[in-house]
Amino acid sequence: MHFRFPLLPLLLTTLAASLSAQVTLNVAVDKPGGDIAPTMYGIFFEDINFAADGGVYAELVKNRSFEFDRPLMGWALAPEGGAAGAVLVENQQADNPNNPRYLKVRVEAPRGTYTMRNEGFRGMGVRAGEHYDFSLLVRRPTGNLQLEVALVDTSGSVLGRAPVELSAASDAFSKATATLTSSVTDVRAALELRFGGTGTVELDIVSLFPRDTWRGRQGGMRKDIVSLLDSLQPGFVRFPGGCIVEGRDLNNRYQWKKTVGDVADRKLIVNRWNTEFSAPRNAPDYYQSYGLGFYEYFLLADDLGAEPLPILNCGMACQFNTAEVVPLDDLDPYIQDALDLIEFANGDTTSEWGGLRAEMGHPEPFGMKYLGVGNEQWGPQYVERYEIFVEALKAAHPEIELVTTVGPFAGGEMFDYLWNELRPLNPDIVDEHYYMPPGWFFSHADRYDDYDRDGPAIFAGEYAGHGPADDTPESRNNWLSALSEAAYMTGLERNADVVRLTSYAPLMAHVEAWQWRPDLIWFDNLEVGPTPNYYVQRLFSTHAGTHTLPALADGRALTGQDSLYASAVTDTVSQEVYVKVVNANDTPRELIIELDGLRGRREASLTVLADPDLKTFNRVREEAIRPYTRNLGSVKRSVTLTLEPRSVNLLSLPVGDRARK
Ligand code: AHR
Repeated sequence: MHFRFPLLPLLLTTLAASLSAQVTLNVAVDKPGGDIAPTMYGIFFEDINFAADGGVYAELVKNRSFEFDRPLMGWALAPEGGAAGAVLVENQQADNPNNPRYLKVRVEAPRGTYTMRNEGFRGMGVRAGEHYDFSLLVRRPTGNLQLEVALVDTSGSVLGRAPVELSAASDAFSKATATLTSSVTDVRAALELRFGGTGTVELDIVSLFPRDTWRGRQGGMRKDIVSLLDSLQPGFVRFPGGCIVEGRDLNNRYQWKKTVGDVADRKLIVNRWNTEFSAPRNAPDYYQSYGLGFYEYFLLADDLGAEPLPILNCGMACQFNTAEVVPLDDLDPYIQDALDLIEFANGDTTSEWGGLRAEMGHPEPFGMKYLGVGNEQWGPQYVERYEIFVEALKAAHPEIELVTTVGPFAGGEMFDYLWNELRPLNPDIVDEHYYMPPGWFFSHADRYDDYDRDGPAIFAGEYAGHGPADDTPESRNNWLSALSEAAYMTGLERNADVVRLTSYAPLMAHVEAWQWRPDLIWFDNLEVGPTPNYYVQRLFSTHAGTHTLPALADGRALTGQDSLYASAVTDTVSQEVYVKVVNANDTPRELIIELDGLRGRREASLTVLADPDLKTFNRVREEAIRPYTRNLGSVKRSVTLTLEPRSVNLLSLPVGDRARK
């Protein structure tokens, strides 16, 4: 794990440090400034890196309804050979256009078994003693067929087994179920369907879920992953992306209506990240079953106490791919999708789409307030389409704030063009993206200091420090990237009167199936690994405050002078003050924080994230960087901190009258 970092800046920093004087930061505790929106720190969810199927959506069976391009991908038939049997892929397109394929299995194994093995998503993670709910749709069993399901390890040893009752012959598919309990913990188990006897049977939607899901929902989400999201206390959940909204072509775009209703009727499509990159980042087995669809995203936001922030296709496919657009005259169905989405989220249960929401289990409205028009579009073709969307949506729903994009880059021609075109249209919220080297983040902590205070709200909708990496997937989430993001985030926070929403991107990645890095959370089939970047996000999001406070050194905000960065906020509800300070130097720094206006003595604490080595990163089962907190005891008006080299620091102190000593 060795990266090359430019040494010169470090040497210069060290030299500057030895010459630098002690810094005093004046925080005006009694002068709350701009409001900090509750949406300030949110999360950006996209089904990339196996974040949905194979990730947070807890289904363990891959290609459960045989709808992948290769219908038997993920399945091995009679893997040990020998036993007699065969399968036929049948297609009932006319009867079931959304899930046309099923398998007809013919078995001639009077003494042995005919086995079908599903490999899962790079294996299946199972835990000793835990229960797994198996189900499948069956019809027309004949002969004396028997079925047993089993969890097996890579050597074929059985970890748990259960018989499955095949119902009497019927022309309709019916659900058969069984419960499996694993005897061991295994990250790479597989599921076997073992048929005995002779006869035929038709089957579809073969499924296996852990019983222990987030909030115990059947067919739900991985508890460990959602718990990590929950710990961020996100202000919003942006979904479903990302380029996935756009699709490689329009046919491949995200269409929310196809992702709601009965899971069995949601039509699977290829994931746009399946072919985006070449090996080893390609993923021929990457599809969207939509088991995780728009209803589930809204529910997730609801569970997390976050605002739902859906982004919809605006009649444009990804401009990095086909760049197809819908002719302006044909935009109506796209606009109707947006109007219907508002009805699905907020409409009365007597309305068509509000009724579907109620039928799915949520009669109460989801209270959606924001909607994104397009993901990361650019050019006049976007502006034309955006204008048509805005006119229609604002006429029908002036209460919904619309998010517009200024393209994929932090600056430059496309960015300037869009800002110039969009500014006169008075957009509600402008979504800026920046995937930039860590050095850019360090040197742009003042980006929003001069933004127009009367202009649109800013959504820093996708950002991450993109630095060096080695072969280890998680290595790009090194401390350098996280430290640079923390430095930059002090600038976002200081400008919270303009910057209303922010989210790191992408959110998560499977260590064996990723396409893009860095990512906020890495996971394998059993464990999750919060990155240093995750801990930086959490430090900010769980101490977001309600109002900014002036925090000045020599009358200026700390935006990198002597490689120090700072922001301060107060929380008028919890009556706490939080000061965040980043020391990007490779040597310690003395910082005096003057808490101007603080009355009485207060018990303060300091939370620190630090590592002297910028190359350090966390792995899924190996956490090198995590925060620690120490009490500073009672402080009065002034506190002197020795900031560790390369550290992110959070000073917390209660300021309410009852907390006075
Ligand atoms: O976050 C990964 C990708 O980066 C998103 O899909 C896209 O919006 C951006 O280009």
